[in-house]
Amino acid sequence: MAFIVPLFVVALLVVAATWLWDYTIMRLLWRPYTISKEFRQQGIHGPPYRFIKGCKVDIKNMMEEADSLVLDVLNHNYLPRIAPHYLKWRSQYGESFLYWFGPKPRICIFDYELARQILSSKSGHFVKNDPPPTLVAAVGKGLALLDGIDWVRHRRVINPAFAMDKLKMMTTTMLACSQSMIKELDNQVSETKNGEIEVDINKEFRELSADVISHTAFGSNYKLGKEVFKVQHELVAISMASLLDVQIPGLKYLPTERNRRKWVLEKNLRSSLLQIIQPRLASNSNEYGNDLLGLMLQTSMATEPGGKEGSLRLSIDEIINECKMFFFAGHDTTALLLTWTVFLLSVHPEWQEKLRKEMQMVLLETLRLYCPALFMQRKPVTDITVGTTKLPKGVAVVIPIPIMHRDKEVWGEDADEFNPLRFENGVTRAAKIPHALLAFAMGPRSCIGQNFAMLEAKSVLAVLLQKFSFTISPNYVHAPSELFMLRPKFGLPVILRQLDVCN
Ligand code: HEM
Repeated sequence: MAFIVPLFVVALLVVAATWLWDYTIMRLLWRPYTISKEFRQQGIHGPPYRFIKGCKVDIKNMMEEADSLVLDVLNHNYLPRIAPHYLKWRSQYGESFLYWFGPKPRICIFDYELARQILSSKSGHFVKNDPPPTLVAAVGKGLALLDGIDWVRHRRVINPAFAMDKLKMMTTTMLACSQSMIKELDNQVSETKNGEIEVDINKEFRELSADVISHTAFGSNYKLGKEVFKVQHELVAISMASLLDVQIPGLKYLPTERNRRKWVLEKNLRSSLLQIIQPRLASNSNEYGNDLLGLMLQTSMATEPGGKEGSLRLSIDEIINECKMFFFAGHDTTALLLTWTVFLLSVHPEWQEKLRKEMQMVLLETLRLYCPALFMQRKPVTDITVGTTKLPKGVAVVIPIPIMHRDKEVWGEDADEFNPLRFENGVTRAAKIPHALLAFAMGPRSCIGQNFAMLEAKSVLAVLLQKFSFTISPNYVHAPSELFMLRPKFGLPVILRQLDVCN
């Protein structure tokens, strides 16, 4: 017995020393040193690594400084606001550079051919980069964050729910939600003497797209679905608030105020979703509903033709994660596409009339200039060479969509300008290379919801344009910001005018 205590202490010391060696010496010192050296030898340089912090403090400082920048409404080059660090390092170190997100290495590329090779890779060499744990809790480890055979299984279950015939049925819901928003606005305008009001259209679109995704994902359970949204929204905000903080190991387990709030929200989110999912599974009718959840449950419960029964099944937890993912991926993205489209139409009013005919071109140009999704990341699971660059295992590659969407070599000299006509001959002929529009990514991991988003945007705009014309409010401040997606920092106040009053 007398030996047990010293033995225990020795074991503890060995574990601590191993952890210290692996974490502090290998991960925080040796790996940054060897990776920097490896890239230097290939002629790829970048800002120096600083212990634990990497370049996070520099990024935070540059972002804070850039945040005070306000642009003219006709200036669509907001890169100095959202990516000052990338611009600075690109001019300092050249086309590809290495930087450090804490102790994690990232290489930023600007080359379309490299991006194509990485995004189209079907060999499983590239996986999604690790997202922050709070973000995973909020958005669920669903389709967008899975890899390998789990991703294949989920994508096969979810794909049928996004088939065009199913989505077309959902346009009725999209139109009904849009009409209800427009009616509300119309009532407000009717009460004014001059037939116009100022509204923050970004706020309106956020509520509308929450309504659309709650109805299309959860059908008759949409009210509960909207509650889920509110919780998820707060969890995402918590995750974003700590993204640029230096990560201290073990901090996430301590009962700090932020962590306690996070734990409560995570529990509430799970229990609300269970309240929606379990009754459907319990109904013996095999009718799970025509909404996204119902269609997912149907495929999940179906037997694969000629295959083993239930081989496509998702567990309850996996279904919960996919529900969280629908909400997260399907809500703000489309609301922002609509917001930035209305912004561009307000400052280029000649296109409001044309839009009635040319909706697709205007939406594509908005996705090019003001793409809601900003920076994609992939990391190789083994050492791999892409183009002439040797990427060591685990070094994440950043593909900066807004920078590439302004590449003058690819898009032409007017790349910074709003010109929907560049899409006149279709999306693949708009630039010098066919896959230049990366708004929905490309390759096997491209956006599953892209048709959903485009149908929703067209439904909303069609209804809005029938009733109103709009101009930008003098109160609008043009400050596009990166908060996981591209958002208008101070909303988008516009003046809505009833069309019949103007004409
Ligand atoms: C304007 C609207 C949208 C934009 C710009 C957009 C953009 C993107 C992008 C760039 C990706 C790839 C991310 C990466 O590879 O790192 C993606 C993936 C994804 N999107 Fe969207 N999205 C939009 C709307 C939607 C909607 C409405 C839904 C669902 C209702 C959705 C669901 C998803 C999912 C589940 C994935 C992951 C696919 C996979 O990994 O297999 N998105 N989206």
